[in-house]
This record gives sequence, C-alpha cells and structure tokens, in this order.
Amino acid sequence: MSDVSIPAFSKDVLILAIESSCDDTGAAVCRNGKILSNLIASQKIHEQYGGVVPELASRAHIQNIVPVVDLAIKKAGIDLHKLDAIAFTQAPGLIGSLLVGAQFAKSLAMSLQKPLISVHHMQAHVLANMIDEPRPSFPFLCLTVSGGHTQIVVCKSPYNLEVIGETIDDAAGEAFDKTAKLLGLPYPGGPLIDKYAKEGDPNRFSFPEPNIAGLNFSFSGLKTSVLYFLQAEKNKNSSFVEENLSDICASVQQRIVSILLNKLKKASKETGIQNICIAGGVSANSGLRNGLEELGNREGWSTFIPKFEYCTDNAAMIAITAYYKYLNQEFADITISPTARAEW
Ligand code: KG4
Ligand code: ZN
Repeated sequence: MSDVSIPAFSKDVLILAIESSCDDTGAAVCRNGKILSNLIASQKIHEQYGGVVPELASRAHIQNIVPVVDLAIKKAGIDLHKLDAIAFTQAPGLIGSLLVGAQFAKSLAMSLQKPLISVHHMQAHVLANMIDEPRPSFPFLCLTVSGGHTQIVVCKSPYNLEVIGETIDDAAGEAFDKTAKLLGLPYPGGPLIDKYAKEGDPNRFSFPEPNIAGLNFSFSGLKTSVLYFLQAEKNKNSSFVEENLSDICASVQQRIVSILLNKLKKASKETGIQNICIAGGVSANSGLRNGLEELGNREGWSTFIPKFEYCTDNAAMIAITAYYKYLNQEFADITISPTARAEW
C-alpha cells in the first residue's frame, strides 16, 4: 500500500460506521478496510428552504438512523454480534445532527459490549482516498472541498494529517450554492452550475481571483462580485440571467476551479509532494476534475479522486478511518460527546 507501516492485526476486523454530521444519514460496514455496504438516506426536505435547516435535519436523522443501519447490516450479510467496533462521526458538524449518530452509536456499543471509535469528519474525507485501489502512497496532499469546508491537508500517514491551508470565509461548495441561489436555482446548486457550465463559454464573463497570502482561500469576494455583476446586468436587461445562464455558470465555475487549483499547485511546489488527491462533495465537479487532470499531467503529478459515493458525505469514509484507528487501538470512552467544531 505504501511506505508507512500500519500496525498488523491477525484477525478479521469488522466495523459498523455511522455518519450524521449534516443532512445525510449514513451507515457502512467494513471488513479489514474493505467496504461491504455503504448506505445513505438524503434529506430532500431542505430543498424548499434553500439550505439545510438544522432542526429538521436532526429530526430526519432520528427517523432514518434505524432503517439505514439495519439495511447496512443486512446488505453486508453480517451478524451484529460479530462486530469488533462501532464508529461514529464525532465532529465537526451540526450539533443536533451529530448527537443523533453519537447517541445511537454509544447505545449500540453499550448494549453489544463493543468498543467505540470516534472519527473526525474531515480526516475521514481525506482517508476516503484509501478505500479503493489505486491508493495514493504517503505523503500525499488532499484538497478537501465540500459545502462546509475547503482545506489543503498534508497526509503523512493515516495518523498524521496537517491542515496547511483553508478558507478564511466561505467554503467552495458555498460559493457554488450561493451563486446558484443568486441565479434562482434550487439548493444545492453546485451540481446544477456544473450541468449548465458544460454548455457555456467560461471566458465570456470575468470574475476576480482574490489575492490571499499563503495557502488560504477566500470565496466571499467572488460571491459579492457575482451579486453586483448580476444586479448591474439585470438593470439593463431583466432577462439577462435566463438568456446567459450557461455562460454565467461556466465563467463562475472556471474562477472557483482556478482559485482551488492555483493554491493546490502552490502547495505542491512548497511541500515537494506530487501525490495529489481531492475529496468532498465539490470534487464531483467536472470542471475541477478535468482541471486537476490537465494540471496533473503538466506538473507530473499522480492524481487520485475517490468514487463519487465516497466524495459526498458518506459512512464508508468513517469506516475506513475507524479501521485505521482500530489497528492503532484508538478507542473512545463511552462518555464522549460530539462537538460542532473541532481542531485536529
Ligand atoms: O461533502 P458534501 O456532500 O457535504 C458537506 O460536507 O458539505 O458537499 C456538498 C457540497 C454542496 O455545496 C454541493 O453543491 C457541492 O458539494 N457539489 C457540487 C457538485 N456536486 C456537489 N459542487 C459543484 N459541482 C458539483 N458537481
Ligand atoms: Zn463532508
């Protein structure tokens, strides 16, 4: 797998993992790091509000968690009593959502008398790259881009991750979703911008690249410039958005992608690391995927993108992270509580 030694374990290790940090209820089972099942229940209810409503998310988790876990166990074809550990997302996320997964995992661990493993959601996004072949060898860089986070992480081993750059305001996914909202598109707008961008001219409109020192990101200026641009154009022509939707989407997407890739290139130069991964929901974006491939070819990088179902929020990434923690015998106390924010 890599040059970093992972503690050996003689017996089969079977883990159930639960993810409930935001608006998706996930459960996955893995045996020795191999995913046997990966279930997700998404919550459509938030679409009508244009964003995730925390209270509604917690309620939906309560409704979904038992059937999702039950199905994950059945699909994996395992006996609940054969589990070696129960894992759950401990942080970061919406506290009401996290509490549902944490309480469920703790109750199950207590009743089955199994060890509990707590997992950091952002570490799990990075380690999603370790689920399937081909896996990156260590050290690698990971650009994690989601609705809540934008980070560049140096991953020296499953146990040694360091954030070397992150957003100082909005996340990349928020930049997509907020632009979509300004264009009158439903939530979450990222996939729709991606769709319209495919038919548009990315050079038709120009949006500024922020001048942020080091490896940090900023997307709030872009959002403001899109807002002022649309206001000015709509004053001249009230049908401007409808008539130019694809070109606007392509132009904004191109700028978001260039902000991300320019920092990734800088991070690779500064660290000398050429194994480059991306993770998180925004890594589904076709502009980012194509851009990464082109840049990677030019720079001589080895690039890795997890399967789509492991990019967006999912429990398989919690399971693989928990597996590494199990190998290291890193267990959580039953009194552990989830936290909305967490350094790592
Ligand atoms: O990782 P994720 O599923 O959940 C969070 O932890 O936030 O990421 C969701 C984000 C949303 O902002 C969504 O609009 C964005 O990922 N997204 C995309 C695409 N697919 C999902 N953004 C741009 N292009 C896409 N194809
Ligand atoms: Zn996430």
